[in-house]
Amino acid sequence: MPAKTQEIILASGNVGKIREIQAILNQHVIVPQSQFNLVEAEETGQTFIENALIKARHATTLCQRPAIADDSGLVVDALEGAPGVISARYAGEQASDAENLAKVLQQLGNTPAAKRSARFICVIAFLKYPDDPCPIIAQGVWEGQILFEPKGKNGFGYDPIFWVPEKNCSSAELNSAIKNSLSHRGQALQQFQQQLKHSSA
Ligand code: IMP
Repeated sequence: MPAKTQEIILASGNVGKIREIQAILNQHVIVPQSQFNLVEAEETGQTFIENALIKARHATTLCQRPAIADDSGLVVDALEGAPGVISARYAGEQASDAENLAKVLQQLGNTPAAKRSARFICVIAFLKYPDDPCPIIAQGVWEGQILFEPKGKNGFGYDPIFWVPEKNCSSAELNSAIKNSLSHRGQALQQFQQQLKHSSA
């Protein structure tokens, strides 16, 4: 396990994700890649796993330090898995969170509540160095439903339209500690920490 002072580069420029990952991995020194002025990697993979590996490999190559990446997104059954790996840019390359979630609501139209099942997926990839043949991969899944309109102000991305059945509210109505204890990202990062403990990193 890396010493607590050993830096892990976080291959993300997403402020919402960075905040959540730093809160959950508070036993580690997590340094966003923006501090190295990196150009973000192009996410050319078709799956969350491929994209997480691409981003972590890019960061460890350019920073010459261990790197972690989160590739995540929303998977809506009635939209055949969309927005999926393009969740961050569903309504266009520069689209805002509000535009992306508006597109999901528009695509779903009047689809009834019983058919609005969805889930957040998060894949975490950790590489010690660019050619690391044994990356740590961890995955979390958070089941919910898509609301008919946004609710709540917390979180980021699609949180305002993601209904959390176990709490009877949207993900954007949860405080950060409760979200992190339930979410796809929270699950994946707990699993990552267990794997890291048992690895030779
Ligand atoms: P990525 O940077 O390609 O992994 O993009 C992930 C995108 O998925 C984010 O920009 C959000 O739109 C969405 N997303 C991932 N995790 C969450 C979450 O916890 N809440 C809300 N939206 C999320």
